[in-house]
Amino acid sequence: MALKPVGFAGNLFLAVAPQKILDPEIALSNGCCGPRPPNGALTIWKDGFMTETMPAARPARPYFSSGPCAKRPGWSPENLNAAPLGRSHRSKIGKARLKDAIDRTRALLGVPDEYRIGIVPASDTGAVEMAMWTMLGERPVDMFAWESFGAGWITDAVKQLGLDARLHEAAYGEISDLGAANPAHDVVFTWNGTTSGVRVPNADWISDDREGVVICDATSAVFAQPLDWQKLDVITYSWQKVLGGEAAHGMLILSPRAVKRLESYTPPRPLPKLFRLTKGGKLIEDIFEGATINTPSMLCVEDYLDTLKWAAKLGGLSALHQRADENAAALAVWVKKTPWLDFLCADAALRSNTSVCLKITDPEIGALDEKAQRAFVKAMEKHLEAQEAAYDIGGYRDAPPGLRIWCGATVEREDIETLCPWLDWAFHTAKSSI
Ligand SMILES: Cc1ncc(COP(=O)(O)O)c(C=O)c1O
Repeated sequence: MALKPVGFAGNLFLAVAPQKILDPEIALSNGCCGPRPPNGALTIWKDGFMTETMPAARPARPYFSSGPCAKRPGWSPENLNAAPLGRSHRSKIGKARLKDAIDRTRALLGVPDEYRIGIVPASDTGAVEMAMWTMLGERPVDMFAWESFGAGWITDAVKQLGLDARLHEAAYGEISDLGAANPAHDVVFTWNGTTSGVRVPNADWISDDREGVVICDATSAVFAQPLDWQKLDVITYSWQKVLGGEAAHGMLILSPRAVKRLESYTPPRPLPKLFRLTKGGKLIEDIFEGATINTPSMLCVEDYLDTLKWAAKLGGLSALHQRADENAAALAVWVKKTPWLDFLCADAALRSNTSVCLKITDPEIGALDEKAQRAFVKAMEKHLEAQEAAYDIGGYRDAPPGLRIWCGATVEREDIETLCPWLDWAFHTAKSSI
């Protein structure tokens, strides 16, 4: 009988002889076994040939989604027991919780005193759109986009708002010509492109003497990468990313220049109540004291507070940055020695330390058409999920086919390190089925 060598160095074994066919998905679906516990190493036999050996240990927390991201280590629903559930968010206790979330955000992130911080509806999308709808149109806008979310903001600017927009776009893996920012224009950009793993290296390209407002979607950067507050006028994010909070609530941080725009410019469009930040030409200051526009989930607020307290205990912002950096570095060590994939972003200076995007460089997979490549990645995902070794590691649907591994602060480095051999295993297992 012919043997099928896997032909891959690392933790794999070459084939020796067929013994039995065991499909891990069948083992799961028949309800008899469930995933094997860590250290339950097992050789997979398929079509009579050994194709791969499972790594001995699984990541303790196989959560690598780029949003909602892994809960913080040690998280438990019991941490939320003190949530004022069943109470009005406008009660004394409700308001105090919301104000506490704002104050702790300021302290942890080092948001300048003169910047307002508000909790708004509809997650990061809500916060970005609120800023675009209320502020843009006063002057031309430079739109920078190098992946799917930035492209979405371009759609809003051009198709929905009909703005005088200058588009500065780049392909996945690359970055726009940031030097094209005109200080007389407004600017919209995404600090960390979640779907390509490309981030801006800094904000030096934004003028200190600008006349326009700079709107920055920072949802997958904040708490993991240093933001240059003085260069930014609107900063948005949601709780579900780097701190592993719950989705649906957005954060809107405004510089004095952004407030001036809101108070001096009336956009030529109707604004739904959810977007209204001014009344009688004045900023509604209460929003930035915790009197939210509509009803927030006090359970989500409690969860956000829990993550903020965890982060402060850990050592604050620098500790969060360090965790993301170390996670991304651990993954990079493996990428460097792995022949079948590489970073989507070739320039290490632009590479994300949160949403790390990887492309498959194996020539046989590269020769497949895009649909087949996507199916291949799906197969890898399926194998990993069936073994409870990793969840949600497929690239974004609009990005080139590939993997995306979240490395933000709530992920443990050990889990990244333990994940890597599983990715090898999933690749070779999926490839053996082609
Ligand atoms: C850069 C970026 N912007 C916007 C969003 C949308 O975020 P949300 O679903 O929290 O509104 C995401 C989500 O992944 C993102 O990564």
